[in-house]
Amino acid sequence: MHKIAVIPGDGTGPEVVREGLKVIEAAAQKTGFKYETQTFDFGGDRYLATGEVLPESAADDLRKFDAIFLGAIGHPDVKPGILEKGILLALRFALDQYINLRPVKLYPNVWTPLKDKGPEQIDFVVVRENTEGLYVGAGGFLKKGTPDEVAVQESINTRKGAERCIRYAFEYTRKRNKGMKLTLCGKTNVLTYAFDMWERAFNEVAKEYPDVTTDYAHVDATCMWMVKNPEWFDVIVTDNMFGDIITDLGAMIQGGMGIAAGGNINPEGVSMFEPIGGSAPKYTNMNVINPLAAICAGQMLLETLGETKAADLIDKAVAKATGEKMKSMAAGKMGYSTTEVGDMVAQFVMEG
Ligand code: IPM
Ligand code: MN
Repeated sequence: MHKIAVIPGDGTGPEVVREGLKVIEAAAQKTGFKYETQTFDFGGDRYLATGEVLPESAADDLRKFDAIFLGAIGHPDVKPGILEKGILLALRFALDQYINLRPVKLYPNVWTPLKDKGPEQIDFVVVRENTEGLYVGAGGFLKKGTPDEVAVQESINTRKGAERCIRYAFEYTRKRNKGMKLTLCGKTNVLTYAFDMWERAFNEVAKEYPDVTTDYAHVDATCMWMVKNPEWFDVIVTDNMFGDIITDLGAMIQGGMGIAAGGNINPEGVSMFEPIGGSAPKYTNMNVINPLAAICAGQMLLETLGETKAADLIDKAVAKATGEKMKSMAAGKMGYSTTEVGDMVAQFVMEG
């Protein structure tokens, strides 16, 4: 019995999570796995009503689950940063979800802004470090608010943190068994401490994986190649900040935020899966938002729980929905409503 914690969250989060759960249910019926869910009300509405961003017991409560399914965090009436830092980043850190796994996969018939590139060329995975770097909140102000103000924001990189991320990326590249190539994305020409350590860790761990080809690209060049030659990439490993940036670029070349999913993974603990697009509050309760990103997050969740057959069925069902039915990935332009897309993918899973 898999225990899944559900955090629908803000804006369109609850709508897309509903469709994601619909598809998980179809996959459970089809392949026979058992699961139960429990819903948590973390998000902007709860914060506005109670003044509490995240209950103190949240991480301990969530640790009792096998996986977490998250909709979106971000509320128009709450100052940016409070919920993101107080819920999303807090959970990533508290649960030590040190990997942010973000597939950049163009499904059939999905529009990409890249000319002459299709699903053959756009199919790689970014392994983003998820608990260190610029995200740790180290630094501070001096003489704040004066003309002499100083602001320091430090990137904290530990050998252990870099190494466990790199090792995960090598394992993942091997398991994926597609191009058997891992690219380190960094900035060794300028960030000569942090990425010096990353590069040394990368080269040392690489010795344990002689079957994996290694490559290196600076982050700026990575952006360039992602647009010009996305087919060069199989798996990319990078730090938290660069991973954040290049995966938004990745989301765009795979058809937009409507279809981009990710997993915050603790390989030894509980992992949290989410559509990476945010809460899109202006579309709330209009039944127009694209639920495919959440459905794909559910797919990753099942894969991580070892439900490979179910995950595979969902992947094929999504490919069928985009390939044969949907007009667009954009909210309101899909040719179907949010619930209709969920129904359709669930049905394809049942028929699969
Ligand atoms: C993401 C988001 C978050 C991040 C924000 C909301 C804190 O952009 O998941 O990529 O920067 O990690
Ligand atoms: Mn981001």
